[in-house]
Amino acid sequence: MNIIKTDDYNRMSCMAANYIAAQVTLKPNCVLGLATGSSPVGTYQELIRRYQAGDLDFSKVTSINLDEYKGLSPENDQSYRYFMNTNLFDHINIDKKCTYVPDGLEDNAEKACADYDAVIERCGGIDLQLLGLGNNGHIGFNEPDTIFPKQTHCVDLTTSTIEANARFFDSMDKVPKQAYTMGIQSIMMAKRILVIVSGEGKAQIVKDAFTGPVTPQVPASILQMHPDVTLIADKEALSLLSF
Ligand code: F6R
Repeated sequence: MNIIKTDDYNRMSCMAANYIAAQVTLKPNCVLGLATGSSPVGTYQELIRRYQAGDLDFSKVTSINLDEYKGLSPENDQSYRYFMNTNLFDHINIDKKCTYVPDGLEDNAEKACADYDAVIERCGGIDLQLLGLGNNGHIGFNEPDTIFPKQTHCVDLTTSTIEANARFFDSMDKVPKQAYTMGIQSIMMAKRILVIVSGEGKAQIVKDAFTGPVTPQVPASILQMHPDVTLIADKEALSLLSF
């Protein structure tokens, strides 16, 4: 695994944008696996800046997001579709028809998940998957478990995740309790994986995930088995790793 240490969140975001920009430049019709949350906001801002400067062209890019809350519409400002539109897609020249997020309004979980797996297959898999890291080691919404779930599935979010996400909602009760998420196999099938992490609060989980045993109790630990993972993190997030 390639680890890049940066001074702070802004530098992390610039380095991550460099990495994604290189992918888009080298393969203009690439498939990007994208994430939501606080970690990638700066990276998306940097990609927008480069697009506006004329340095990047997203017209042939396809994107496949990791996850979506079950029950939220694309217009709901807490949905991940809304997040992606407002934080990235509305500001670049990506064709929105080629941007995929699980359908939060599909109540039939089996159908929602099978449809999403079909999308991933139809797109030919993911060239570069961007990931944040949950406080409990989740990636996408693959929560600590006794197995690594393979494909897109519906998850009951853990209390830890609901608490962490409550900051975006008016109250804890408003945080959806279920989500659709891409599975571990789909993430692991990506040709390259880029993980971005920032802040002291993630230092212990970074250590557990990248230097501890590979276990479904720490879903991100499976990334140790992937041949092409780059971790870009600020010095606080890496403070418990000795290198
Ligand atoms: C978001 C996602 C989650 C987040 C993780 C970290 O699409 O899949 O796994 O990446 O919860 O969230 P932040 O970046 O807000 O700390």
